[in-house]
Amino acid sequence: MRLLGIETSCDETSVAVVEDGCRLLSNVVASQVEVHARFGGVVPEIASRHHVESISALLAAAFEEAKIGLDAIDAVAVTIGPGLQGALLVGLTAAKTLAFARHLPLVGVHHIHGHVAANFLNGHTLRFPAVCLVVSGGHTDLIVVHSEVDLEVVGRTRDDAAGEALDKGARLLGLGYPGGPILDRLAQEGNPDAVLFPRPLLPGTYDFSFSGLKTALLREVKSDRAHSTADLAASYLQAIVDVLVAKTVSLAREVGVHQVMLAGGVAASTVLRREMAQACARCGLSLLVPPRHLCTDNAAMIASAGYYLLRAGHCDDLALNATANLPLRRG
Ligand code: KG4
Ligand code: ZN
Repeated sequence: MRLLGIETSCDETSVAVVEDGCRLLSNVVASQVEVHARFGGVVPEIASRHHVESISALLAAAFEEAKIGLDAIDAVAVTIGPGLQGALLVGLTAAKTLAFARHLPLVGVHHIHGHVAANFLNGHTLRFPAVCLVVSGGHTDLIVVHSEVDLEVVGRTRDDAAGEALDKGARLLGLGYPGGPILDRLAQEGNPDAVLFPRPLLPGTYDFSFSGLKTALLREVKSDRAHSTADLAASYLQAIVDVLVAKTVSLAREVGVHQVMLAGGVAASTVLRREMAQACARCGLSLLVPPRHLCTDNAAMIASAGYYLLRAGHCDDLALNATANLPLRRG
């Protein structure tokens, strides 16, 4: 079964063709990073307009890369939230148009379900239940993955998401936009023990809170202590990663799972990937980490999640709508 996936929830327009939820035939992504860089963040109205301009060309590119046409597609999967409302509507309208014109099944996908499903694309053996840490610009979720379509969120951020904390931290350090990848790169040249930032572990819950850490970084930047930017970046990132790793491993042990998954844009972080791999190895847990280009926003992950939803009997009609703050419910 070949699914066309469409993702336009934020500042990446992406279209993909995926076979049976796991074989990637194409995955094209047009990033608007440069457009939003001069504003220091994503401007929703501008994002929507760029999606409108890009979507048709990306559809054509995805078919060309997959070496198939629309007539070889069996269903259409599209992100319906959470995300920027105007941006989501561009992808949804494109998906509905194709589904209507070709009488294809249509399935709406939660963006976070998509991020988790990036782990279903790499052909590894999945062992359910698993624990997945989803760390993106808007989310820090700890999820028990009961099956490909049954996700139980047991912890979330109470303030800043991990990616948001990295992006804001990078701005405090004058590192430019988007901050996460720049900070991750610079951190590898610094000493993670140079500054002892707090580790907000919030005992008794799997929730996260990173806003105090950001304030601690601001205090350190304003102080007259002469730490290098690389040392500050390394110490700040280490504090965030320590919390992410500790809580993920702790949940994995409590639930008794054998497999941990990483997902979301921050899962592209070299430091997080390394530290999570070491912690899982110490605890005898197997770790799945998608390749970097499948950690950040892409349509292949949406097509994969959509395939499993359809297989489980979920299908939407043409009244399907997008919801900016769509909650992730158990399937
Ligand atoms: O999943 P994503 O592409 O979009 C959202 O759904 O939010 O995640 C974007 C976030 C941004 O905060 C970005 O700074 C962060 O992921 N990010 C990284 C890296 N690449 C992207 N953070 C650390 N290291 C990276 N290599
Ligand atoms: Zn995302």
